[in-house]
Amino acid sequence: MNLLVTGGAGFIGSHAAIRLAEAGNRVIVVDNFNDFYDPAVKRANILPLVYSPQSTVIEADIRDAAEMDRIVRDYSITHILHLAGLANVRASIEQAPLYVEVNVTGTVNLLEAARRHGIQQIVCASTSSVYGEDSPIPFVETAPADHPMASYPASKRAAEILGHTYYHLFGLNVLFARFFSVYGPNGRPDMMPFMVMDSIVKGKPIRLFNGGQMRRDWTYVDDIVDGLCAALERPLGYEIINLGCGAPVLMTEFITIMEELTGRKALIHDVPAPLSEPPVTYCDNSKARRLLDFNPRVSLPDGLARTWAWYRRAFSVPSA
Ligand SMILES: NC(=O)c1ccc[n+]([C@@H]2O[C@H](COP(=O)([O-])OP(=O)(O)OC[C@H]3O[C@@H](n4cnc5c(N)ncnc54)[C@H](O)[C@@H]3O)[C@@H](O)[C@H]2O)c1
Repeated sequence: MNLLVTGGAGFIGSHAAIRLAEAGNRVIVVDNFNDFYDPAVKRANILPLVYSPQSTVIEADIRDAAEMDRIVRDYSITHILHLAGLANVRASIEQAPLYVEVNVTGTVNLLEAARRHGIQQIVCASTSSVYGEDSPIPFVETAPADHPMASYPASKRAAEILGHTYYHLFGLNVLFARFFSVYGPNGRPDMMPFMVMDSIVKGKPIRLFNGGQMRRDWTYVDDIVDGLCAALERPLGYEIINLGCGAPVLMTEFITIMEELTGRKALIHDVPAPLSEPPVTYCDNSKARRLLDFNPRVSLPDGLARTWAWYRRAFSVPSA
């Protein structure tokens, strides 16, 4: 495959791009290295690709339609893994216009380039947050997802719907993967696994919603990458597919695992959950199992142990 990976310097993108390059594909990474978190972290994430002869890293913005078109054409791209985007439900609350520009217009720019240059398959990142408070549990793809609780999931849902238009009008193979709380080494610093480790190590309090009674379906990044690799190889027309572990865990339990791993107590600061937060996320992954042979292998205790091992190495944390 001649692959374009957008957002390839980010957390999930760098794991995916490195795996795809190791599998012998030519990988072109596009990322704008924005400062949503430290861009130096992103540059470090893709260091292995910078020195790989079969990979190219391009600093570019997906909002630049002409540049996306040029890259797809000039590099004879055959498949696109579109992961560039603005994430984080709470950060989106005050920034709807920006989230729409990047997550909706940016995605349309990739869909447009894909159909103009005969791309075989485009796989795009969506989110479990498109399911609202009223979605039946576990979340299944056939549930209506038309009551998103913040502009981030609303922008992702809009992109999914536009993907259908490109399939309908131009026969483009488009797959939207709805990720459920992805974690692992190089994880995003604005997400709970990193924040909890960091707070415990630094002795800082952790904000925990609703007494830790929220449940999240944590999914290890290697399992997500397995699903994405399978999705790239299987053009299926238009599909939306959940990629999640299917085993939600109470936040209190999550904290206990982290305390056991670090050998330190967490300082909990209990706060009410904001309106943007659903009480539970729970993936029905049977469609992914059927269509992508998806089979998440890494349990939360195992995945957090691997993530903690990475954190300790990355930040030189001594034993407790
Ligand atoms: N991590 C999760 O749990 C999770 C869950 C659901 C969905 N997602 C989605 O998966 C994708 C990857 O998430 P992640 O956790 O790796 O986040 P990330 O922020 O680490 O990665 C996103 C990357 O996209 C790049 N980017 C952002 N705007 C861009 C633009 N305009 N042009 C070019 N590049 C741009 C960023 O610089 C970053 O490197 C995102 O689309 C996100 O919404 C992630």
